[in-house]
Amino acid sequence: MKLISANMNVMVKACRKAAKVIIRDFGEIENLQVSLKGPGDYVTASDKKVEKILIEELQKARPNYSILSEEIGEINNDDSFKWIIDPIDGTSNFLHGIPHFGISIGLEHNKEIICGIVYDPIKDEMFTAEKGNGAYINNQRMRVSARSKLKDCIIFSGGPRFKSENKDLAFEEYKKFSSRVNIAIRKLGSASLDMAYVAAGRCDGFWQRDLSYWDIAAGIILVKEAGGFVIDFRGNDDYVENKTILVSNSKINKEMLEVLSS
Ligand code: IPD
Ligand code: CA
Ligand code: CA
Repeated sequence: MKLISANMNVMVKACRKAAKVIIRDFGEIENLQVSLKGPGDYVTASDKKVEKILIEELQKARPNYSILSEEIGEINNDDSFKWIIDPIDGTSNFLHGIPHFGISIGLEHNKEIICGIVYDPIKDEMFTAEKGNGAYINNQRMRVSARSKLKDCIIFSGGPRFKSENKDLAFEEYKKFSSRVNIAIRKLGSASLDMAYVAAGRCDGFWQRDLSYWDIAAGIILVKEAGGFVIDFRGNDDYVENKTILVSNSKINKEMLEVLSS
């Protein structure tokens, strides 16, 4: 049976409340898409609105916890507990009316992620995990895939971001990976959902450079609790500091690392 901690209850509640606003705003995007100004400012406003709801809900329940959130940055309180929030992960998709984005919240305790939630409000898919309690998609237990040959796998990546100083490096990695394993790499545009899909066994592996902590915080525990690997491009667990992340099932992890670290 799925066990939910009090903290996870708080996270679920916050996501459900924020999702109502996202769904309503997403419905407006189509109209704005054809307007001269486009939906740019509107999306920025949505992002901030969603973040505000999430923070209000989380603070109401846990006033002492610290917060790191993409739009507003840090709120420093009791540093042993910290919410790590990406209010809308997949903003470009949202902006273009593509129904693939998520709310992502991780909870850090003494610098370790102990709970994570990624919620796709359009498909109503909620991915959750708590340390030692497994990972779930809605109420169903999820596990990483068992595929062992890269040629049979679906691999996701993201970026490279054009503003990134490492964009050339990221392009090289992308080319190297696609040509070495001779498979197409997919880019779905939401790192948190990419990681949730690895956890659910839908895709077999994912890598990206230059992600921020809020993009990956929840995904880290989803993948680990689903039996997968989370490492950086050197094979260590400094993915936050090194800003390189590779997640996959246990069977293809070594081969993926060989390509990315070569
Ligand atoms: C982005 C998405 C995207 C990834 C980018 C992220 P945002 O987050 O996760 O998949 O490739 O690097 O910045 O801006 O939509 O919250
Ligand atoms: Ca993001
Ligand atoms: Ca975001």
